[in-house]
Amino acid sequence: MLYKKSIPQIIQEARESGKHTLKRTLTSSGLVSLGVGAIIGAGLFSLTGIAAAENAGPAVILSFIIAALACSFAGLCYAEFASMIPVAGSAYTYSYATMGEFMAWIIGWDLVLEYALASATVAVSWSQYFNELLMTFGLSISPEFLRGPWEGGYVNIPAITIVCLLSLLLIRGTKESSTVNNLLVILKVGVVLIFIVLGWSFIDSSNHVPFVPTNEGEEMVKNGDMSLWSFLHSEHFGEFGISGILRAAGVLFFAFIGFDAVSTAAQEAKNPKRGMPIGIIGSLIICTLLYVLFSYVMTGLENYKSFEGDAKPVATAFANTGYTFLNTALIVTIIAGYTSVILVMLLGQSRVFYSMSKDGLLPKIFSDLSKNQTPWKTNLIFMVFVSLFAGFVPISDLGHMVSIGTLFAFTLVCIGVLVLRKTNPEIERPFRTPLVPLVPILGIIVCLILMASLPIESWERLAIWLIIGIAIYWFYSRKHSRVRQSHRKL
Ligand code: ALA
Repeated sequence: MLYKKSIPQIIQEARESGKHTLKRTLTSSGLVSLGVGAIIGAGLFSLTGIAAAENAGPAVILSFIIAALACSFAGLCYAEFASMIPVAGSAYTYSYATMGEFMAWIIGWDLVLEYALASATVAVSWSQYFNELLMTFGLSISPEFLRGPWEGGYVNIPAITIVCLLSLLLIRGTKESSTVNNLLVILKVGVVLIFIVLGWSFIDSSNHVPFVPTNEGEEMVKNGDMSLWSFLHSEHFGEFGISGILRAAGVLFFAFIGFDAVSTAAQEAKNPKRGMPIGIIGSLIICTLLYVLFSYVMTGLENYKSFEGDAKPVATAFANTGYTFLNTALIVTIIAGYTSVILVMLLGQSRVFYSMSKDGLLPKIFSDLSKNQTPWKTNLIFMVFVSLFAGFVPISDLGHMVSIGTLFAFTLVCIGVLVLRKTNPEIERPFRTPLVPLVPILGIIVCLILMASLPIESWERLAIWLIIGIAIYWFYSRKHSRVRQSHRKL
């Protein structure tokens, strides 16, 4: 279980020419766009209002900054790995080099939770906004075809349709997919900027007061009427005040998921040593700036309480401003934004399975390339898998599973940087994580805290998913592993 792949071996394998190699077509700006494409989505457009109304009030701006800080620790670690081991597979490949085959398998299996389930989650939100758009033209989809059987419907048809269309686009080619992604990103960043610039003049500063709404429990602790321990376990925890800002940061973590997807495309980057750090850190910085400004304007346009229970607050943000045409533009943008999130997540998923299959841990079918050099069979298989989730499964808990899976992956990447600095200090690192070991250790602590804040059911589901994964490893992967077969124990 501790068989490792050496870094030179990994890089050499990736260089192998022939039909089993992905094409290097992505430039640095293409990679930043890939990151922004995966990041800005349901988190910003659906969760900001809810986090403001239920947890943080206008201080949701601070929550965004905390969540960004948490991600930047992991982002800096990802950047070191991605520039040093520029091959497809991301955290999976890094773990293979640092912690051995079993951990690599676990992380690869875990990434399905992040990429495949995030695309399913966002596809379901997509279907709601798509219906909203149809309604502006006087049309609509009947509710039974907008939700699965557990929520009183039959199947979510629009969610399945978008997953299938984007899977087919990915099969056509990475370059084509990247071009479509660039267009979607320009559209969504453009309208987010318009929202910020136009909205700025409509900010009513009284909406930003109080900036941090009072938390009754925190007041009681201050006055000595409640112990800190009871407060931590009371329903007051997370309802505004300082604890609310932290709880909102945990919720809004979802909004940053995706910057790591850049690293899954490392094997398709023209100059990965430069492009990987730029893609990962650049997209994280751009999105943080946009999120902070966006949430400032949003909580300035209306009182935070008015966002309660509204998963589509942005769609009506300009209702009272005379710029009502912007509502439709915003809906179109949100749909475009969600589309690129689904696209990049599906891309990331297929690249991770491609790498696992190349290593023999999954059947060869997952690394068969089409004549456009895309892993088309993986794309088709995940088209079906993700469609089943998007079409039938209620999404209320899916978001938590995505978060726990992602945080688990981030933790392992931070540990990996520490391990590899010890075991292979000599390897060239075009980008070095600053302040090692502080940054990776802070990354691990923050990820574990955020994981602890998630509901117990998501831990149970993570455990079940990992048990299934371990069974597959035991009965299949262990026996077919190429590294194991070559008996190269380092
Ligand atoms: N960060 C992505 C989103 O907000 C997953 O939709």
